[in-house]
Amino acid sequence: MLISELRATIEAIAGDTALYEERNVALRAEALEQIDVELIDRVAGMRAEPHPPAGLQAVLDRAEQVRRELEGVDAALFTRIRARIRAGVCRGPAFLRLLRAYFGRDLGTARGQQALGYDSLDLFVNGLFGIREVPAETCAREPEMVAYQKTPARVIIELAVRARLTPADVFYDLGSGLGQVPILVHLLSGATSHGVEIEPAFCELARACAATLGLTQVTTHNVDARTADYSAGNVFYLYTPFEGAILRTVLERLREVARGRNITVAAYGPCVAEIARQDWLASHDNARSARSGLSLFRGR
Ligand SMILES: C[S@@+](CC[C@H](N)C(=O)[O-])C[C@H]1O[C@@H](n2cnc3c(N)ncnc32)[C@H](O)[C@@H]1O
Repeated sequence: MLISELRATIEAIAGDTALYEERNVALRAEALEQIDVELIDRVAGMRAEPHPPAGLQAVLDRAEQVRRELEGVDAALFTRIRARIRAGVCRGPAFLRLLRAYFGRDLGTARGQQALGYDSLDLFVNGLFGIREVPAETCAREPEMVAYQKTPARVIIELAVRARLTPADVFYDLGSGLGQVPILVHLLSGATSHGVEIEPAFCELARACAATLGLTQVTTHNVDARTADYSAGNVFYLYTPFEGAILRTVLERLREVARGRNITVAAYGPCVAEIARQDWLASHDNARSARSGLSLFRGR
């Protein structure tokens, strides 16, 4: 790619006034992604070539300047939303309305699940929660323990809506990673939320996020899911955190809880197949799961 094309790309972004309007969150997220991938990463690649063209530094400086300006618009917005969350006026329906104002009225509905995978909503959630990067793991995982990968935010919204979570529910995310699921579930529903995560560095970040948002009803437990205390829970979520014998052990623990009360188990990813085989769980409201892959089960 020629330097002139790179310059034209960054000036087209810089000149698009819609991107500087606070409400255009999704558009801005796409532009920021474009700056990173098409400009900053590309310039880094071109610099590594044996004969890099002149003018790369100027393009890089301009791209970083425009990125800072756009991030500044988001930062002001996030500061205001965080203040409303801390004040307790942006929970449940109010929080869902806010997300729908920026990402469309279909969010959390069957139609809203047509776009699968990660998108600008995930970038928004990362920004709002202040998550910049995944911390390095500090302890070795057993072979059956699955590495961190987050649930797409759209799937978390579908979970809160489809499971009809309310402030009366006690939600657990088993293998909760950086804590987006318990935090979002709490914000969307008011449910008391727990994350169970074996990696201390992930727990530290999850706790910092919840503290920044002033969420006292979101707790992260740095324990192995095989030994965690689930006695308070009635809704349990697994995004394939482990496989094989560990998954079977943890499902046996949930079965014990199900003997005492009605529970919902929500699952996403490959672990759905094993969970669907459990004869103590019945498939629930899964007509929609074909689109997103999120499956709900109720204790029999
Ligand atoms: C696929 S990620 C899911 C993260 C999060 N639930 C989400 O959906 O965004 C799986 C997580 O489970 C954690 N994990 C794996 N084995 C675990 C265990 N035995 N106990 C607790 N956490 C575990 C991993 O460290 C990782 O963060």
